[in-house]
Amino acid sequence: MTKVKSRTSLGLLTTLMFVVIFVTTKLQYEHVKVENRWHPFVSTRGSSGLASGEDRFESLDSLRQGVVEWASNLELKPLWQSSSSLNCNALLAIPVGIKQKQNVDIMVQKFLSENCSILLFHYDGSVDGWNDLEWSNKAVHILAHNQTKWWFAKRFLHPDVVSPYDFIFLWDEDLGVENFHPGRFLEIMISEGLEISQPALDPELSEVHHRITLRNKTVKVHRQVYVSRGSFNCSDNSTGPPCTGWVEGMAPVFSRAAWHCVWHLIQNDLIHGWGLDMKLGYCAQGDPTKTVGVIDSEYIVHRGIPTLGGASATKPPPDRKSPEHSPVKSDRSIDLRTHIRRQSTAELEIFKQRWDQAVREDDRWIDPFYHLRQNGELHEKHATE
Ligand SMILES: *[C@@H]1O[C@H](CO)[C@@H](O)[C@H](O)[C@H]1NC(C)=O
Ligand SMILES: *[C@@H]1O[C@H](CO)[C@@H](O)[C@H](O)[C@H]1NC(C)=O
Ligand SMILES: *[C@@H]1O[C@H](CO)[C@@H](O)[C@H](O)[C@H]1NC(C)=O
Ligand SMILES: *[C@@H]1O[C@H](CO)[C@@H](O)[C@H](O)[C@H]1NC(C)=O
Ligand SMILES: *[C@@H]1O[C@H](CO)[C@@H](O)[C@H](O)[C@H]1NC(C)=O
Repeated sequence: MTKVKSRTSLGLLTTLMFVVIFVTTKLQYEHVKVENRWHPFVSTRGSSGLASGEDRFESLDSLRQGVVEWASNLELKPLWQSSSSLNCNALLAIPVGIKQKQNVDIMVQKFLSENCSILLFHYDGSVDGWNDLEWSNKAVHILAHNQTKWWFAKRFLHPDVVSPYDFIFLWDEDLGVENFHPGRFLEIMISEGLEISQPALDPELSEVHHRITLRNKTVKVHRQVYVSRGSFNCSDNSTGPPCTGWVEGMAPVFSRAAWHCVWHLIQNDLIHGWGLDMKLGYCAQGDPTKTVGVIDSEYIVHRGIPTLGGASATKPPPDRKSPEHSPVKSDRSIDLRTHIRRQSTAELEIFKQRWDQAVREDDRWIDPFYHLRQNGELHEKHATE
């Protein structure tokens, strides 16, 4: 574990990180007026040298209100022509490695056909390897070696930066999208009033960790799963993860407001190998049993290929073994993943302690998942093996 720690911090120190932005004339851009701005005066945890929320407010006193620009977006801007408006109100962000190029190509094309913005987080150093793809210069590429999805998201999906988007897709790179259409998916999310969602998983072809993510062919959306197995029961009475109010980390989709909350939930110092998804329901902007749901009519395949950037690298042992979808692994990559798993387990403990302490220190806080707590924290027992 110490080894992993020092390796991680060494990695962070020596990480060569830069942003490669390919500007294209093809992409049209317009400054988007944001109606629904977030309140920007958030306070920061631990004030060592950092401006507190109020300081941030005061630091703007010398600017006229009318010129203060809170938000930005990830649209590429043509330098020499007038621009038109965004067609898609969604951003797709994926941590990618060159090994999954073929699949990512298919995923991105689906979203580009809806004119969505594309952001690729390259965790393996290979950026040039993507140049030959026709859409490569329409995407924003960010490189940071050996970092995780949540690491990237914390740094590059700040709520102010992505506030023009109504929805954020923060997806793994190993998802099969043959039966998925982003536009139809979003229509359902809106009509069903979902703030946090994911497409259901094709049960035949997917690596499945949690029953609630499985596709139910008879419905359009489900928000609950009924299981009676081993250490837990999911019934109509269940009010929390993994029975209801929950999606998994490999393909979450967030509304703007939910993402604003989730971004603050991501701990800057943790890689969040697993366990973060169990708390996402707290960002549901209302009753999580209603505003969190799995969309069945638009579904995906979760291939479960262990990669560094995706959630799969660090998943706890699955509920169910997937058939022949685990590629042959080299000893070295097994060794690396073992380290990451240990780190993730240790971190989950830290996260839980931090959460519990925050709850103790805030007596105004009301837990929307109170009933779950009475029944025990199911997943987290499971996750610590
Ligand atoms: C990233 O991890 C790989 C192992 O998967 C390692 O070989 C490589 O040196 C690491 N790169 C950096 C910059 O730490
Ligand atoms: C995407 O943008 C192009 C060019 O602006 C436009 O012709 C096309 O209809 C748009 N597609 C969608 C689905 O909005
Ligand atoms: C699918 O949904 C229907 C209608 O809600 C329900 O009766 C059925 O039990 C569900 N099937 C599974 C496998 O969850
Ligand atoms: C789950 O539910 C079944 C039937 O309601 C019950 O017999 C069983 O004891 C329950 N298991 C747990 C762990 O609560
Ligand atoms: C659900 O709650 C009701 C009322 O508390 C109770 O009567 C019922 O047995 C519970 N059902 C299950 C499956 O636990």
